[in-house]
Amino acid sequence: MFIYLLAGITSYLIGSISFADLICKKYYGIDIKKYGSGNPGTTNVFRVVGGRAAAAVYAADFLKGFLVVTLARLLGGETLALFSGLFVIIGHDWSLFLNFSGGKGIATSMGVTFALAPKAALFSSLVGIGAIMLTRYVSVGSIVGSGLFPFFLAVFRYPAKYLMYGAIIAVIAVYRHRSNIKRLLSGKEHKLGKKIKP
Ligand code: G3P
Repeated sequence: MFIYLLAGITSYLIGSISFADLICKKYYGIDIKKYGSGNPGTTNVFRVVGGRAAAAVYAADFLKGFLVVTLARLLGGETLALFSGLFVIIGHDWSLFLNFSGGKGIATSMGVTFALAPKAALFSSLVGIGAIMLTRYVSVGSIVGSGLFPFFLAVFRYPAKYLMYGAIIAVIAVYRHRSNIKRLLSGKEHKLGKKIKP
């Protein structure tokens, strides 16, 4: 029981580190939460700051998910890995260091899911990327890719607990995209490639 408490708290704290917020403040002197969609994540950093910063944010957010799950699996096995993966995503989305606001968790969820179920993660990512290319909306790709993750878990015959886990991750991702869904419905969503000056 103690190891779960420790893993939950540690994973949440690691997830809470907002690399978008840190990198934008430290290297570009801007508060990313005040520009574009206001989301401290790869897409908004790309929109407001540029490709190099966005790539760094994506890599760091992905790695924090991937490494937490990999380490938890080594230390405590599969269930601890699943548990820790959920808490790193929760930390990213409701960060202790950002007054319980945060990102939308897609890069971190990709790190978690590639560590836990790589085939399903790969296929849902590919479909998500396809949706972005078709629509030019990153949010559509994020929602479609996350929503299809449980489906691909079923296709690759992962056990029921993985399907439930995938469904929880999908629900969190869609919930965190509420503002995007509103903008999409009102035709005000930012298209990929549209830059916003800080
Ligand atoms: O992963 C976040 C992305 O789906 C949407 O980002 O900045 O357009 O809200 P943003």
